[in-house]
Amino acid sequence: MNDPPTALVGFQKAESALIEMETASAPEVSALASGQLILSEPRTAMITGAGGLLGRSMQARLADSGWRVVALPHVELDITDEEDVRSAVESIHPDVLINCVATADVDRCEVDPDWAYAVNATGPRFLARACREVGADIVHVSTDYVFDGSKQGFYTQEDEPNSLSVYGRSKLAGEFAVREGAERFYIVRTSWLFGPGGKNFGSRVIEYARKGGPLKGVIDQTSIPTYAPDLAGRIEEIIDLRAHALYQVTSTGPTTWFEFARLALDLAGLSKVEIEPVTRAELNQVAPRPHNSAMRCLVSEKLGLSPLRHWKDALVEFVREC
Ligand SMILES: NC(=O)c1ccc[n+]([C@@H]2O[C@H](COP(=O)([O-])OP(=O)(O)OC[C@H]3O[C@@H](n4cnc5c(N)ncnc54)[C@H](OP(=O)(O)O)[C@@H]3O)[C@@H](O)[C@H]2O)c1
Repeated sequence: MNDPPTALVGFQKAESALIEMETASAPEVSALASGQLILSEPRTAMITGAGGLLGRSMQARLADSGWRVVALPHVELDITDEEDVRSAVESIHPDVLINCVATADVDRCEVDPDWAYAVNATGPRFLARACREVGADIVHVSTDYVFDGSKQGFYTQEDEPNSLSVYGRSKLAGEFAVREGAERFYIVRTSWLFGPGGKNFGSRVIEYARKGGPLKGVIDQTSIPTYAPDLAGRIEEIIDLRAHALYQVTSTGPTTWFEFARLALDLAGLSKVEIEPVTRAELNQVAPRPHNSAMRCLVSEKLGLSPLRHWKDALVEFVREC
């Protein structure tokens, strides 16, 4: 018999370790020796930050797959309120909680670090502890902005985080909070999300172009645009595999915001609309961004998970449907 596959998990080089993958059980149907089939209860997923871009894609994906989904937008659960978090998790009693909460405004984080740390680190700590109390797994989503961007090539889990911004540092603090607070966790770093149902660069650029607004595209920042529905699908696969680890999940293919915006407009039939190429420095933003934060995932490669499709293929689908 083959040994079970193993997955590499590491937050920092020195802390890399091998973990064993648990055997995944059949999710919904089990067969008795008599051959009779019994339908078991669907698994319950609780989603926090469910009104956001990833939260909506996650909700749609899991509902399609037959999960019982309890999706809580910000108005229904503020994750910085410990008592509310505990009572929601106790009453829902999820098999897995997926934290899709974000402080989307990177520049606001820079000037309001208390808010950034409350939402990105303290809230996730409350979620992680509550999950431990009810025996639930937790998926916590993090960011490529934990890296400083000075690396040539792809960042892996073995690269030391060294964020340039309050946003990135607070997200890294959130990773550690979940790691300390939870018994079983998956941490999923991703980059440059776009997709249906939320305000994001993909939808905004097309909206502004249609309204005739001036457009600027950054040419000196590289990462990987990631399609939220594809990320949601991969998160479901990861949960099913039960390989608790630190993942770096993105679509395929590094690019710049300028290239992404150009293709989005071309696909939307707006080829004549011009985009002014600019550098990050020209935008005078408060928070520094990493120059290059394209990631690859050693764990996914070890587990044999196929790469997500290229962002350009996902963008074709996105533009067709938006
Ligand atoms: N978007 C990206 O380009 C990107 C890149 C890398 C990583 N990520 C990570 O991906 C994850 C999902 O991001 P996203 O793009 O889906 O974000 P999003 O669209 O901004 O959604 C985040 C949601 O979190 C809610 N929220 C904010 N504070 C909350 C609180 N205290 N309690 C409960 N809910 C709260 C927001 O509600 P309100 O709007 O009502 O405040 C919003 O609905 C985050 O972990 C983010 O850091 C995103």
